[in-house]
Amino acid sequence: MSITDQIQKVRSEFSSDLEKLSSDNSVLDKIRIKYLGRKGLVSALFVHMGTVSNEERPKMGQALNALKKDIESEIDAAISSSSDSKNQKLLDVDYTLPGDPINRGSIHPLTLVMEEIKSIFNRLGFSIAYGPEIDSDFYNFEALNIPKHHPARDMQDTFYITDNILLRTHTSDTQIHFMENNNPPVRIIAPGRVYRNEDVSVRSYCLFHQIEGLYVDKKVTFAELKGTLDYFARELFGQNVKTRFRPSYFPFTEPSAEMDVSCIFCKGGGCGICKKTGWLEILGCGMVDPEVYKSVDYDPQKWSGFAFGMGIERMAMLKYGVQDIRLFYSGDVRFLRQF
Ligand code: PHE
Repeated sequence: MSITDQIQKVRSEFSSDLEKLSSDNSVLDKIRIKYLGRKGLVSALFVHMGTVSNEERPKMGQALNALKKDIESEIDAAISSSSDSKNQKLLDVDYTLPGDPINRGSIHPLTLVMEEIKSIFNRLGFSIAYGPEIDSDFYNFEALNIPKHHPARDMQDTFYITDNILLRTHTSDTQIHFMENNNPPVRIIAPGRVYRNEDVSVRSYCLFHQIEGLYVDKKVTFAELKGTLDYFARELFGQNVKTRFRPSYFPFTEPSAEMDVSCIFCKGGGCGICKKTGWLEILGCGMVDPEVYKSVDYDPQKWSGFAFGMGIERMAMLKYGVQDIRLFYSGDVRFLRQF
């Protein structure tokens, strides 16, 4: 086949390649390499230059260069028209249409209340301590003066992992962990999750949150306990709230009490939420029982103090008027967005 015929053949092959191709630039690049690459079809033709006669060589050179130029410019044109078509697609977008919604999260109401309670006690000089959620019988019961078979164990239905390991039923375990590792004076609050094997209902859930408080120093009095918790209640629920202390029983405090606040819904007048009493129970407290000091090697002659514990869910339900505890765990954004 003469060189002229070969040039013709390459031209027509190129035309049909170009016709078939999509507007895809990567395909165009492949075509460029096929014809103009170092081992491409056009370069291969240049090799023949050596085989033609001296008279024919300039004509041949011109013909080959023309072929090369034509292919180059056609590929360039194809590339620019294909990007034109992409630009056209961009112009087709309707920028006046509403955008996709961005769903923002919110801070969980339990976190909000927890943070607020922490900050109230921080202002009173309490620091924060954490204890394990999976704990041993010793820390959850024994060291808190609740020996095996003590009826107080029935107050809290426990999830046991083994005979000795359990999910803590209250944050009071952290009192023991902290006193074991620190010398008095102690001024801590211990927030965290606790577990109880109770039927799930509007008022109780198998897990919930508590904040424990522990204050140990020399000559601490019940008046200090009352003053601290009264200040706390007024900071959290408003300055007009009244408190009262009713005698109660906990194995790890003596004497023990429960603190009520005047009903924040009816202002003490009596309503459905306070069961017409005008009062809402919010926490348990008392002076640390000397038996507890013994299990952590504190001298009960030298040290005294008070402890208290409250449920965060209950606080949040009262503060925000939430009627069903299960809502906190539902993950329902319609509920969560309201805080
Ligand atoms: N741990 C008790 C409970 O869960 C609350 C409490 C804590 C009472 C500290 C007195 C002192 O019910």
